[in-house]
Amino acid sequence: MDLFEYQARDLFAKHEVPVLPGEVVDTPEAARAATERLGGKAVVKAQVKVGGRGKAGGVKLAFSPDEAVERATDILGMDIKGHTVHKVMLAGLGEIAEEYYVSFLLDRTNRTFLAMASVEGGVEIEVVAEENPDALAKIAVDAIEGVTEAKAREIVEAAKFPAELHDQLVDVLQRLWTVFVAEDATLVEVNPLIKSGEGKIIALDGKVTLDENADFRHADHAALEDKDSADPLEAAAKAKGLNYVKLDGEVGIIGNGAGLVMSTLDVVAYAGENHSNVKPANFLDIGGGASAEVMANGLEIILGDPAVKSVFVNVFGGITACDAVANGIVQALALLESKGEAVTKPLVVRLDGNNAELGRQILTDANHPLVEQVDTMDGAADRAAELAAAK
Ligand SMILES: Nc1ncnc2c1ncn2[C@@H]1O[C@H](COP(=O)(O)OP(=O)(O)O)[C@@H](O)[C@H]1O
Ligand SMILES: [Mg+2]
Repeated sequence: MDLFEYQARDLFAKHEVPVLPGEVVDTPEAARAATERLGGKAVVKAQVKVGGRGKAGGVKLAFSPDEAVERATDILGMDIKGHTVHKVMLAGLGEIAEEYYVSFLLDRTNRTFLAMASVEGGVEIEVVAEENPDALAKIAVDAIEGVTEAKAREIVEAAKFPAELHDQLVDVLQRLWTVFVAEDATLVEVNPLIKSGEGKIIALDGKVTLDENADFRHADHAALEDKDSADPLEAAAKAKGLNYVKLDGEVGIIGNGAGLVMSTLDVVAYAGENHSNVKPANFLDIGGGASAEVMANGLEIILGDPAVKSVFVNVFGGITACDAVANGIVQALALLESKGEAVTKPLVVRLDGNNAELGRQILTDANHPLVEQVDTMDGAADRAAELAAAK
């Protein structure tokens, strides 16, 4: 999960990384009060989860509360790289002498963590990496050892930071590493990390990505989720514990196993080329134990998507055999109908693998008017695409 800048700022403050005061608001009037509390001057910063807000006009200085209202009026509602601005942060006005860059991230290729640092901050770091790679220090960080004082010093020296700032930077880097570890982040990036007029190191902009696999040990992270911009179907699926991703197409997909579902998306997209270019409407992996309840939950989410015109249920029986899945489908349809959610979209079911024959027989016997069976994956994909195109 990517965080907004103000959320990153709050996490930095929690772990005593030096930051400027900041308040997040969603109306221009609230920007006035916040600016008054900040002493009458502020930077108005668009809160969207993309970089380059400054260049896009989403970071503006305000030298009075009135000006803050004007700037907030300009920025709220703005579109930055496809992201609508719903909130702005009013931040203390930093006096910038120098802009630096530092980050910690997971380096999957090298199976380690990585520290990156540069005296050329403020600009996009990809540009520095491209045009002046020597100016970007990259130092591996061992997961067990972490950023010790010696490691922090190695990073600071490799990046050629001015000597008089070394002690401060070593301290700030260690605190940022604490954020990375204590919050289970996969990215902590500060750009710019500034040297103020008084020579103080301050994190002016922060980007943090949290590892959702670790959510179970961070009860407080749930509150960081951006519920306003979440897709309502994805949110509903998440609440039911389903592995669902909304896509743009018309053919609803349910499968068991992430690999099978991924290839199902491919065959449906391919089949769609012959049927008005219909495409998969979602990714949904109902996992190994495809119980009636899980199947009903999955069908409920997919059938609730107005874009869906047909559904393709693609199951390869393994530990959970096809007969169990077939019973799950029959019970799921009955369950939905008993809830008053009559199923009106055609379902194409392909069962293969363990107890496929038995599963197919169960569906044949149930004889649901909207359920069709096709024995092959390609054939079923083609039929589901055809049904979606016909609607
Ligand atoms: N609180 C602040 N005080 C003064 N200048 C700021 C402040 N926040 C940002 N800036 C300036 O605006 C630039 C862009 O802001 P930043 O927060 O890094 O957004 P982005 O990286 O999305 O463009 C910074 O490099 C800095 O020069
Ligand atoms: Mg920045």
